[in-house]
Amino acid sequence: MEMRERPRRNRKSAGIRGMVRETVLSPSDFVLPLFLHDGEGDEPIESMPGCVRWSLEGLVGEVGRAIELGIPAVILFPAIEESLKTVGAEECYNGDGLVPRAVRALKQEYPELVVMTDVALDPYSSDGHDGLVRDGEILNDETVEVLCRQAVCQAEAGADVVAPSDMMDGRVGAIREALDGAGFEKVLICSYTAKYASGFYGPFRGALDSAPKAGDKKSYQMDPANRREAMRELRLDEEEGADMVMVKPAGAYLDVIRDVREATDLPVAAYQVSGEYLMIKSASGAGWLDEEAVMMESLLGIKRAGADVILTYFAKQAAEVLRRS
Ligand code: PBG
Repeated sequence: MEMRERPRRNRKSAGIRGMVRETVLSPSDFVLPLFLHDGEGDEPIESMPGCVRWSLEGLVGEVGRAIELGIPAVILFPAIEESLKTVGAEECYNGDGLVPRAVRALKQEYPELVVMTDVALDPYSSDGHDGLVRDGEILNDETVEVLCRQAVCQAEAGADVVAPSDMMDGRVGAIREALDGAGFEKVLICSYTAKYASGFYGPFRGALDSAPKAGDKKSYQMDPANRREAMRELRLDEEEGADMVMVKPAGAYLDVIRDVREATDLPVAAYQVSGEYLMIKSASGAGWLDEEAVMMESLLGIKRAGADVILTYFAKQAAEVLRRS
């Protein structure tokens, strides 16, 4: 056969493949999501094998191990006691609450660690929604006021990045103004820009016992069918002062990650959510998939699609693989 071009030449050896590799994962790409609870002891999470609801003490130890693997950042999700959940979700801006205490403990132990916090009401709301609920309706502007108090409370505790995951309209601009007004102009906002109403969040809601008591989240999270709408949310988040923009979930929305990457100069984050993690864990746990190969390939795909930052429950495990390779 006469051929000038033989693409296989560039795949000839590990050395050549390494030279021409277009996308390379690094532990510095990862953010490790961590669950915490207010109590003694660390509880394995049934709906998410390998994940744990950490006590404050356990959390500090786990973050130490993540840092040791080269992971620069964590994001915290609290399991709030049922007795503290209210219609107004007031616990979310309690300065002595679980998240502020955890942030202070982590920043004291690891000043260089990037601590990210989730801004949304669902862990604190007796309705289990990200916003305030009245007569079955999710209130927008009233919710944004509470989110601003929550974000300022997290900043006061020392959070480096606040990440609103609630999908209320206008919350990025309002939170920016509230942070600046309180003297926290150096705190970043990583906005969940395109967060879809996804079935892939199921195991997470099990982990925090935070599923909506009634209704669903479709009046605020985006319709999985929509691509252009992500551009509209992106434009607003940019105008309102977001520092990073996120797409969530990741695996089923790689086209949206690519669209957002091409439409913005801001760093793009993507969240490989609980259901994506669980699918890989359970199929490989049953012996049907090679866990390590599929884990790395799923993360590489997210980075190749255009993500600069990846939130993943695999962060430590993937960092261990990268260290070995
Ligand atoms: C809620 C929130 C959710 C996740 C992160 N923040 C769940 C939801 O919107 O119902 C999901 C993360 C995951 O599934 O891993 N504010």
